[in-house]
Amino acid sequence: MFNLILFGPPGSGKGTQSEKIMAQYGLKHLSTGDLLRSEIANQTALGLEAKQFMDKGELVPDAVVIGMISSSIDSNESVKGFLFDGFPRTPAQAEALDNLLELKKAPISVMLALDVSEEELVKRLMKRGETSGRSDDTNEVVIRARISEYLNKTAAVADYYQQFDKVKMIKGEGSIDEIYQNLCLEIDKILN
Ligand code: AP5
Repeated sequence: MFNLILFGPPGSGKGTQSEKIMAQYGLKHLSTGDLLRSEIANQTALGLEAKQFMDKGELVPDAVVIGMISSSIDSNESVKGFLFDGFPRTPAQAEALDNLLELKKAPISVMLALDVSEEELVKRLMKRGETSGRSDDTNEVVIRARISEYLNKTAAVADYYQQFDKVKMIKGEGSIDEIYQNLCLEIDKILN
């Protein structure tokens, strides 16, 4: 199994690049943001709880997202590997993920971390908010709160994987194709 984390702040291009990577490498895409939005759309108890945090730009509690990822891993037994997008987002989530993958003897191979300036992130998300219908894209206060959560709670996840020498920084500004090519170069180095 080849397990990859695509990491970066809100708006750095994780979802955009995940679509291309999963198509190219046949990985199963697991996005906690997408899973949570689907719970909200289905009006489940989990979704209703998560929405209160997401609408404010805050992280959803660890226990909720870890439980969700654990069931998604268990229900995808025979995949070539997982592409984690938006997870893990705290060191506690990273440790939980490592424990889950240890059971499968398939650790994280690499974390590819997209580097984008804060002003570019805000610009991209405000623009997407004009059409996306995502409640957390509609105002700059919430967008900046999401970026603060990333800086205060999520950036430390890169330090966690750095201790195992698993982090590769990728410039996340420029054309989508150029960034994708740089991501592929790193993936191919590991696969070949
Ligand atoms: P989540 O859904 O994960 O959103 P996010 O991290 O805020 O990321 P985005 O989807 O907004 O951005 P992205 O990096 O995927 O960029 P994208 O490709 O879309 O999380 C939402 C919320 O759910 C969180 O705030 C939290 O509350 C909760 N949550 C989720 N996971 C959690 C977890 N593990 N723990 C706790 N809470 C959790 O691109 C953004 C825009 O930029 C698009 O319009 C795109 O077209 C454009 N774009 C992309 N690349 C480029 C480029 N190179 N140049 C110009 N524009 C570009």
